Amino acid sequence: MSWTRKHLLDIESLSPEEIITVLDTASGFKDVGKRDIKKVPALRGKTVINLFVEPSTRTRISFELAAQRLSADVINFSAEASSLRKGETLKDTTRNLQALKADMFIIRHSAAGAPHFLTRFLDAHVINAGDGAHEHPTQALLDTFTIREKKGRLKGLNVTILGDVLFSRVARSNIWALTKMGAKVTLCGPVTLVPKIFEKLGCRVTHRIEEAIEDADVINLLRIQHERQRKTFFPSLNEYTALFGLSKERLARCKSDVLIMHPGPINRGVEIDSEVADCDHSVILEQVTNGLAIRMAVLFLVNGTRVPIEASA
Ligand code: CP
Repeated sequence: MSWTRKHLLDIESLSPEEIITVLDTASGFKDVGKRDIKKVPALRGKTVINLFVEPSTRTRISFELAAQRLSADVINFSAEASSLRKGETLKDTTRNLQALKADMFIIRHSAAGAPHFLTRFLDAHVINAGDGAHEHPTQALLDTFTIREKKGRLKGLNVTILGDVLFSRVARSNIWALTKMGAKVTLCGPVTLVPKIFEKLGCRVTHRIEEAIEDADVINLLRIQHERQRKTFFPSLNEYTALFGLSKERLARCKSDVLIMHPGPINRGVEIDSEVADCDHSVILEQVTNGLAIRMAVLFLVNGTRVPIEASA
């Protein structure tokens, strides 16, 4: 087992061994989730703050459930109902929560680097649940877990990430995770949203969807991140769908065992046909299920729990 970190801030700084430790630990927690009693006492007595300053369904709820399954006390911080609205700074807010003896902060924020900022003055553990367009480490870990589970390996697989790469923290974290694990990553989308500079991260870049999907073992689709775009990057959603949407017709030209993934939320009829989202190739809901096991593993590891999962049950 390879893990000594107090925080999980990004994938960029993780070693392949640390990534494997998270995936293997998550496998154990996935098994725990199949038992009648799905709870273990690993974080009993610990207080976890779910601090989401941006909207979320999957990440927020699966972190909450993960902390509960590990027997922690969980506080869901509502930014809208908090004194952030009265001008209190993020620093003062989190220091006040730490004064209430919070042990862990799970933070989602529109500002890249917000989780790293918290580690400068908090003693608590900090986990990045998505910071601006920078990283979304647990999403990449659950995506990598899902691919490994379905394909039996990561090394040598062709993984295509298709869509708005420029504004996507999911893309950045996936690129780091997959290239570290030996997968071959292709990025595809409009020139404005998939610049050639991404080749410097060890990826192939193409702006032709046919080229991107023909040899793909996995296609991971991204929605258009309108909330982070300050100008128009393509003429219309209809044109985007025509050029880069994953339709039934395009799926028919893919490998017969291709996996279709999406971090959610999906925009049916834009980046993905509704029927493709629900077809047998799609593992979109399995990604969500695996997210719970990954987040249990991350909370368990950053806490420094050293007893095996079985022994702690
Ligand atoms: N994949 C993801 O981060 O989804 P949410 O925004 O719903 O958490």
